[in-house]
Amino acid sequence: MTILADRVERVKPSFTLEMTSRAAELLSQGVDVIDFSAGQPDFNTPKNIREAAVKAMEAGKTKYTAGAGTIELRKAVCSKLSRENFLEINPNQILISNGEKQSLYLACQALFQAGDEVLIFKPYWVSFPEFVTLSDANPIIVETHQKNNFEPNIKDLKSKISNNVKGIIINSPSNPTGSVWSDEATINILALAKENNWTVISDECYERLVFDGEFTSAQKLNIDNNIGANIITCMSMSKTYSMTGWRIGYAFGEEKIIKAMSKIQGQATSCANSISQSASVEALTGDQSAVELMKNKFKERRDLMVSLLNDIPSTQCDMPGGAFYAFPDFSHYLGKSFNNIKIKNSFDLSDLFLNQAQVVTVPGDGFGAPGHIRFSYPISSSLIRKGIKRIKNILEKLI
Ligand SMILES: Cc1ncc(COP(=O)(O)O)c(C=O)c1O
Repeated sequence: MTILADRVERVKPSFTLEMTSRAAELLSQGVDVIDFSAGQPDFNTPKNIREAAVKAMEAGKTKYTAGAGTIELRKAVCSKLSRENFLEINPNQILISNGEKQSLYLACQALFQAGDEVLIFKPYWVSFPEFVTLSDANPIIVETHQKNNFEPNIKDLKSKISNNVKGIIINSPSNPTGSVWSDEATINILALAKENNWTVISDECYERLVFDGEFTSAQKLNIDNNIGANIITCMSMSKTYSMTGWRIGYAFGEEKIIKAMSKIQGQATSCANSISQSASVEALTGDQSAVELMKNKFKERRDLMVSLLNDIPSTQCDMPGGAFYAFPDFSHYLGKSFNNIKIKNSFDLSDLFLNQAQVVTVPGDGFGAPGHIRFSYPISSSLIRKGIKRIKNILEKLI
């Protein structure tokens, strides 16, 4: 008998966090590392939000809050959803969590159990299969293809439907591909979910980072098209307001499910951080100009990143419509060697970039996408140029 429970064996560590810590370790040793691994903006949190946190502390808002989040923040989320997503939601349908990641985890805990199956599209964010595994259910992976903007392959999806499927996780704009599904693709999935009685978990963490065209929340498409699918939508303060360290995210949907998630959260962590909740009220209701400024910067960097990646021979990088990731296909280089060491897969390629070029990336294999590498581009244009030049140089040496 081992001291640890079986679930520890079943769950995989978050290797995006692992790559980020490898980068931090090298940086602390004074190595000139260029880090394309971190899934977070390089900007500080806007000043009005930081000031609101200080004010909250001075005013003594330093205590436990209601388990589901303060009423002020839940109301602020409601007005944001009304203003930006055209959704009328009431505060009882909202749960504030310690980051959206916790909302997603809680949704899986509240909805799934042993014997259930949950559909996940690949390439997937590394945590989706693990959330499902931690709920004792089974993740069922469905194909998508780069040539179709990583939208669902309905034929493959239909082949995986069984009576055990209880839910489906969608994520547009996507981490790791940056792809933004067409409304039609989302509507098709919602219709299938309704037909089969699945609950949809829609991760919309990057909803404000859509560069070409408008983003429409799955719940809005659900209502406008009279589909009637049951959706738990999860959103985050992290990426939009550059607040990754503050750990605030939220979920909204059917009250019964939100209550169930809140019950588990209450026993696990009591509530989200009170100071971060006050700061989030300001973020959602105060001056929004910083959001647009950051987004415009990301767009500039995306265009630069994609054009530099496509300048690398035999590399293909589609223009991602949102988030802040580029996800080029480096399959051409697999099977080649560097100093007689064969590059067998994207893990080896990512290691090569790190060890020989001091560039940190995340291998696509971890997202279920062999041959791809994820580049996170919220870093300065000069670092982007320097990093991609180093990668290009090292790839030229492969034989
Ligand atoms: C797709 C996706 N969902 C959720 C999250 C979690 O965000 P948060 O910081 O709010 O927990 C991330 C963070 O990287 C993400 O990429």
